[in-house]
Amino acid sequence: MQSNIELFSITVNRSQILLPEKERQECIKSIYHICNEPPKYFFPGEDGQSTGSRDLKLHSRPQFASLFLKIQERVEAYWKQLLYTTELHPTLFDSWANIHTKGNWTMQHCHNDGYWGSSHISGVYYVNKNINEVDIEFIDPLDMIHRLTPAQNMMGIHSKATSFQTQTGDLVLFPSWLSHRVNKNKFDEDRIAISFNFKGI
Ligand SMILES: [Fe+2]
Repeated sequence: MQSNIELFSITVNRSQILLPEKERQECIKSIYHICNEPPKYFFPGEDGQSTGSRDLKLHSRPQFASLFLKIQERVEAYWKQLLYTTELHPTLFDSWANIHTKGNWTMQHCHNDGYWGSSHISGVYYVNKNINEVDIEFIDPLDMIHRLTPAQNMMGIHSKATSFQTQTGDLVLFPSWLSHRVNKNKFDEDRIAISFNFKGI
């Protein structure tokens, strides 16, 4: 008798937060409004418009208060699921929204950057996303190791990645160190996503 054992799995959590339509529209209106403000920062890996270039505290705006209360609950549950220490409490410290019109994309990145990006749990909430639109892709952290093997299922210069289908109302939580990317929006309809970082303090 023989069996294979899959080692070192990574838990990514997907759930749904269905906002009342009026609240969802208020959030969308506010995101477009913020994107009209003059940018203060520049993110080279982001091709679309981002409120993050203006303000990284989207959660401090009243239109987003109820959404972030729900997100906080989900993150606390995920923190436990990951068996992160109970000595620390996941605390929201950065949030922003990206608008991807047709052709816009986000380069491969993770939400940790040494001292400047020391978060523990990150996530994305889809305020508006067509179910047939391309999905976030999570990069296999063993990509470089696979390159040293005779693996057949490589992606050339692109890192090996896995995606799963998401749509409006989906919330995806992942460890902040896990790299990801978003490919070009295929549709005329804007893809609008809110991203955030939590840190245990
Ligand atoms: Fe990201």
